[in-house]
Amino acid sequence: MKQEKIRLLFVCLGNICRSPSAEAVMRKLVEDAGLGNRFEIDSAGIIGYHEGERADSRMRAHAARRGYALDSISRPIRPWDFRNFDLIIGMDDRNIADLKRKAPDVESEAKVHQMMEFARDSLFDYVPDPYYGGAEGFERVLDLLEDACAGLLEFLRRS
Ligand code: 4NP
Repeated sequence: MKQEKIRLLFVCLGNICRSPSAEAVMRKLVEDAGLGNRFEIDSAGIIGYHEGERADSRMRAHAARRGYALDSISRPIRPWDFRNFDLIIGMDDRNIADLKRKAPDVESEAKVHQMMEFARDSLFDYVPDPYYGGAEGFERVLDLLEDACAGLLEFLRRS
């Protein structure tokens, strides 16, 4: 990792389920690796519908059982996020299409990645939205994110 600080922004549709979880999983991984001071980690939503809200209570409960505290407050992505972050990581293909459409220039567009690009061991090529489903959807989100965030850290350590 050459850069002084690596700035990661995780993005999903509402910023109350998947991206706050990605933020918490990644933060714990880098802290456990003793790399907390090398990273700036945040999350945002494509839409501002839940702006100002804490993460979904079901998502928080499932995450807490694995030792993750979801303390982020929902906010929509803003144009300057594309300048301020190094990697902008969406959860599904619709997030990616929306992020590319919102990117103000080609350099910003090149920062957009899909979370599951970094997965090492997964049957899914996107992180499915758990909002309208049951408990298994929230557990799946955490399973996928734990795998993909570990892959992302490995990728960053190599580059
Ligand atoms: P998220 O889940 O994108 O993982 O935060 C959703 C939360 C809320 C909505 C959609 C997805 N919503 O339409 O309100």
